[in-house]
Amino acid sequence: MEYSNILITGSAGFIGFHLAKTILENYKEVRVIGVDNLNNYYNPRLKEKRNNILKSYANYTFLYLDFSNWNALLKKLRNKDLDLIVHLGAQAGVRHSIKNPWVYIQNNDLGTLNIFELARHLNIDKVVYASSSSVYGGSRKIPFKEHHKVDKPISLYAATKRHNELIANVYHHLYGINAVGLRFFTVYGEFGRPDMAIWKFTKNILTRKPIDVYNYGRMARDFTYVSDVITGVLSAIEKNFKYEIFNLGNGNPIELEEVIRLIEAYTGKKAIKNYLPLQPGDIEKTWADLTKSKKLLSYAPKVSIEEGLKRFVTWFKENKAWLLKL
Ligand SMILES: NC(=O)c1ccc[n+]([C@@H]2O[C@H](COP(=O)([O-])OP(=O)(O)OC[C@H]3O[C@@H](n4cnc5c(N)ncnc54)[C@H](O)[C@@H]3O)[C@@H](O)[C@H]2O)c1
Repeated sequence: MEYSNILITGSAGFIGFHLAKTILENYKEVRVIGVDNLNNYYNPRLKEKRNNILKSYANYTFLYLDFSNWNALLKKLRNKDLDLIVHLGAQAGVRHSIKNPWVYIQNNDLGTLNIFELARHLNIDKVVYASSSSVYGGSRKIPFKEHHKVDKPISLYAATKRHNELIANVYHHLYGINAVGLRFFTVYGEFGRPDMAIWKFTKNILTRKPIDVYNYGRMARDFTYVSDVITGVLSAIEKNFKYEIFNLGNGNPIELEEVIRLIEAYTGKKAIKNYLPLQPGDIEKTWADLTKSKKLLSYAPKVSIEEGLKRFVTWFKENKAWLLKL
């Protein structure tokens, strides 16, 4: 890899953790600096657990830091000799943005502005950053292609993710910073997020509690296994782009009822379903068109929903003792 000092924001988060671990394991010459404020959007003990695993690598340095605080960010990072930023830290989650829109502006808008300002101040010429399938809004034009018009977000989360792509465009235009935006599609896997459906379904089915099934089960998501997403992020790091946006999905939408059926099969337990209407801000179906990612990133997702869920449920059962306490 051509980079030797990589900053990963959100390194104690789900995707940041997997990316940092993969780099530390496979590129021994690379130093990774992780930044996270370990906030309590979900139980920070899970973030600490991930972070402790990363801290066991000699080439990992963790900085406890809120990147929405510009002065603190610049002060802590100005002497670190960074040559790449992978910006994965954010306030995630569509539903929470209905309850608390302010934290999205703070962490995603101001936070991302600060990250691009950091790149400008420190002469870092490349930023790879997380966007989201949610930018496609309620579009019925499926599968979603990167060049589709995305000016009708239906949640504040989606609006901030689209802002991030626009901020990236400005910094590319004004300062020549190379910016690669990755629109992730419902990522799942080991050490995942407790606020997401697959985690909640697995936990509640195992403990015989009801699960909330939105839109009466008539929902489909392009579920993407985390190791596939990581290969896409690594390719975005290693290939040279100026300003690009890529879908990183599986290319195969799965109905919610099918996900529940598979989790029932792998846990050996029946779900108690609590059917509910579609939640405000939610999209009925996501589906990534992968033509561009396949062509330019050589992206080729490998893990089927059956294989991915089997791995996730196995991991969950093996770690049940501490996971159920989160
Ligand atoms: N997981 C998915 O399915 C998915 C889908 C689409 C997009 N994304 C995007 O991918 C990125 C990673 O998502 P994730 O699933 O790993 O989420 P996550 O919540 O597990 O990780 C985000 C991390 O960022 C940290 N963070 C947030 N605000 C911060 C701040 N101001 N300063 C420092 N740290 C801060 C959090 O503490 C957290 O550890 C996010 O940008 C998210 O919006 C994720």
